[in-house]
Amino acid sequence: MAAVAAATRWRLLLVLSAAGLGVTGAPQPPNILLLLMDDMGWGDLGVYGEPSRETPNLDRMAAEGMLFPNFYTANPLCSPSRAALLTGRLPIRSGFYTTNGHARNAYTPQEIVGGIPDSELLLPELLKEAGYTSKIVGKWHLGHRPQFHPLKHGFDEWFGSPNCHFGPYDNKARPNIPVYRDWEMVGRFYEEFPINLKTGEANLTQIYLQEALDFIKRQQAAHRPFFLHWAIDATHAPVYASRPFLGTSQRGRYGDAVREIDDSVGKILHLLRDLSIAENTFVFFTSDNGAALISAPRQGGSNGPFLCGKQTTFEGGMREPAIAWWPGHIPAGQVSHQLGSIMDLFTTSLSLAGLEPPRDRAIDGLDLLPTMLQGRLTDRPVFYYRGNALMAVTRGQYKAHFWTWTNSWEEFRAWISAPGRTCRASPPTRRRSTPSCRWSSTWDETPGRGSPSALPAPSTWTHFARSPRLSGSTRRPWSLDSPSSMCATGRS
Ligand SMILES: *[C@@H]1O[C@H](CO)[C@@H](O)[C@H](O)[C@H]1NC(C)=O
Repeated sequence: MAAVAAATRWRLLLVLSAAGLGVTGAPQPPNILLLLMDDMGWGDLGVYGEPSRETPNLDRMAAEGMLFPNFYTANPLCSPSRAALLTGRLPIRSGFYTTNGHARNAYTPQEIVGGIPDSELLLPELLKEAGYTSKIVGKWHLGHRPQFHPLKHGFDEWFGSPNCHFGPYDNKARPNIPVYRDWEMVGRFYEEFPINLKTGEANLTQIYLQEALDFIKRQQAAHRPFFLHWAIDATHAPVYASRPFLGTSQRGRYGDAVREIDDSVGKILHLLRDLSIAENTFVFFTSDNGAALISAPRQGGSNGPFLCGKQTTFEGGMREPAIAWWPGHIPAGQVSHQLGSIMDLFTTSLSLAGLEPPRDRAIDGLDLLPTMLQGRLTDRPVFYYRGNALMAVTRGQYKAHFWTWTNSWEEFRAWISAPGRTCRASPPTRRRSTPSCRWSSTWDETPGRGSPSALPAPSTWTHFARSPRLSGSTRRPWSLDSPSSMCATGRS
């Protein structure tokens, strides 16, 4: 009797749970929260060794999750790296790349009219299939004309700007950058959204924080899985902070901005715990490119021990702070030496949502879940990028660069796929990352054109910071003994 009753109860439970699934669909996939910083460097967080230790919340996030010291962006500039994150593809595939006319493909300044093509499938478009509601808060930077609007590319909500907060401008050709709420322009930087260049005061981080908190609360109340892309820009020059944070850092105004961001991340994670959705929310923190040395020290961050910064494909421009957090799933206090890429956030997010990456195109991101959940290291396929008209090849745990000038994607692809074009990577020989690379100004001069082993000995390397062909500037010889001569870059 008792056994029959138990069996009936069990069958009843099965029926009930099946009915539950019928109503709500599959069990709800985790929320996805990607926190993307602007021009923040590898060395800016306490957990990465920044000596003033002013990021207690981010340091705690790392202690509760997984730290990735070998995490890279896909391009050392805002627009291409953002395109890479949202498409899971090398930015050159979607038409984003940098040349020595830096601004050309960074969609700054305002008169530049390009943007993300319709043919690209962005993460929020794909997440819709799994029932996600998506919002971007902050900087979009993938085109400011109507056809490039984030709501045309999968996002359901937007609060932020299509471009950098440079300014103030007061002419028709170059007006102040607008701020949008969804489809509507609600004001402009320096006008309705003041940024005081003299004092560094702006309330934007607080506004962006509020947008994040409100969105999370609304989605939680509606029991909808969400994707929040929190792409804030306080650490991009001109750096800013709100009054309670101004003057509070040992690092100056840049540090004030970092402190306010750290405080905001603390509040976001706190809300997730308060709402009891922390264990169902995957959070990843990283930056779009390395610190802008041209703005340092007052308005730029730190790339730790690494060479150069933003706008260069040296480690300082490409290697980013990166923290994954998902309590109850990613074991606390882990450091992974997995070679990670911002493009992996695309593939990993799809995997979290139970979706497959698109099969009709090349996807360059890897699924990092085996790394995060089981501590596995994945030997990633070669990837390469073109920036400042150079390319780099990365394999396994180490990175070697082979640089060449190419004028077209076809030329570039032909180069990389030539027979015997394999990259034998070697470990960095000292803490400052040693670039096994050479600038060249012509196709014929390209090192390793025949085979990578044809690279000249390091003592004979000569670096040229600019392509005479593209910018008309003069060649600047460079040696490993005076690497900083390589770092100077133009504004973008
Ligand atoms: C920031 O907000 C405070 C409080 O509302 C206000 O007093 C201050 O003027 C605002 N600052 C800027 C730069 O908008």
